[in-house]
Amino acid sequence: MLSKKTSLGIKNGSAIRAMFVEGKLMAEQYGAENVYDFSLGNPATPAPEKLKEVLIDKINSEDPLVLHGYMNNAGFPEVRKTLAEDLNRRFGTDFDEGDLIMTVGAAGGLNITLKAILDPKDEVVVFSPYFGEYRNYVENFDGVIVETKPDLETFQPDLSDFESKLTAKTKAVIINTPNNPTGVIYSPDTMEKIGTILRAAQERFGTQILLISDEPYRELRYDGKEPDFLTKYYENTIVGYSFSKSLSLPGERIGYVAVPKAVAGHDELVAGISLCNRILGFVNAPSLIQLAVAECVQEKTDVSFYDRNRKTLYEGLAELGFSAILPEGAFYLWMKSPYPDEKKFVEMAKKHRLLLVPGSTFGCSGYVRIAYCVSHDMILRSMDSFRELAKEVGCYA
Ligand SMILES: Cc1ncc(COP(=O)(O)O)c(C=O)c1O
Repeated sequence: MLSKKTSLGIKNGSAIRAMFVEGKLMAEQYGAENVYDFSLGNPATPAPEKLKEVLIDKINSEDPLVLHGYMNNAGFPEVRKTLAEDLNRRFGTDFDEGDLIMTVGAAGGLNITLKAILDPKDEVVVFSPYFGEYRNYVENFDGVIVETKPDLETFQPDLSDFESKLTAKTKAVIINTPNNPTGVIYSPDTMEKIGTILRAAQERFGTQILLISDEPYRELRYDGKEPDFLTKYYENTIVGYSFSKSLSLPGERIGYVAVPKAVAGHDELVAGISLCNRILGFVNAPSLIQLAVAECVQEKTDVSFYDRNRKTLYEGLAELGFSAILPEGAFYLWMKSPYPDEKKFVEMAKKHRLLLVPGSTFGCSGYVRIAYCVSHDMILRSMDSFRELAKEVGCYA
C-alpha cells in the first residue's frame, strides 16, 4: 500500500525519535530521575506568561467567526505587518506584510518553499553537519540533497568544498546559524564569502540560487552575541523563522517565511510559497497562535537558563577529558566521539543511561549531539554517568 519513499522512510526511521521512545522505556525501567535523555530539542523554558494572557483575551474578545475562520493563505495581514515592522526595527530591513507568509513552524516554511522552487533532480546544498530532516524535506519534492564537508576545526562551512559542489542544477542552499547540531554561529566573514561564492556561481551558470536561512535559533545566543540578519550578505536570501524555540512553542506550529524585496522574482516567489501553503494542505498557519505571537514580539525566552546549562555541561565534560565545541548559540553541544564510529559510543553511553544522538544523523560521523534543553539539575545528576563513561572509554582515569 505504501509508496516506496514512505516505506523507506519508515525503515530508516529517525534516530532522534527512536531515542525519544527508548528514553521513555528506560525511564520506566530505571526511574525517570536516573535516565539522562539529551536527545530531543524540546525547549525547557516555559512560554512567556504574556502569551497565556493574550490567548485568553483573544478568545474572549475576538469575533469567533474571524478568530477560527479561514483566511488569506499567507496569514492575517495585520499579523504579518506587525512582524515585518518588528524585523525592520531590529534589523533595518524594509519588509511589509506582502513579504511575509505565516507558516506551520520552520518545518512547514521549508517544505512550502522547497515545493515552490524544486523540479525533480534540482539540487539543494547543505553544510554538514546539518538538521537531518532537510534530506526528507528536499526528497519530498524529488530534489537531491548535496552535502558539503565539515571543517572539523571550526565547524564553520568548508567554503572551497562548498564552491565545488555548486552546479547548474543548484536551486537552493540551506543555511542554519546558530547551528543545530554544533551550536556554532557562522561568522560575518563566512557569510560574506558565501555571498561572493553564490553570486559568482549565478553568473557562471546563468541561474538563480536561493539561499534559505533556517533561523529557529536566531535569538538563542550567548556571551552577548547579537542576532544577525543574513539577508544583507546576499540578495537572493530568504528567511524561515519559527517561534518553536524562541518562545518555547514547538507544539503550536508557528513561524514565517520572509522574502526581501531584493530577491529576484520576489512577487512570484511569494505567490508560489503562499500557494504551496494551501496545496500542501496547511491552507494557512493556525489562526489563534498567529494573533498571539504578533502581540508577543517583545517577549524573550530565558537565554540565561540555557547558558547556565551550556557552561555546566561543557566544563563538566572537559574535566572528564571529553573534547567538545563550546556552543555559541542554540541549545546543543557537539562532542567528539572517542571512536570514529560514534554509534558504538552512543550504545556505550546508553548503558550508563545517557541518551546522545549520533553525528551521522546530521551527516557527520565521529561526533555526538547533546541537547542541553533539560533541567540544570539533570545535567548535574548526569555527571556521575558521564564520569563512568569517560573511564570506560579511557579519557578519564
Ligand atoms: C535547524 C532546525 N530547523 C527546523 C526545525 C523545525 O522547527 P519547527 O518546530 O519550527 O518546525 C528544527 C527543529 O528542531 C531545527 O532544529
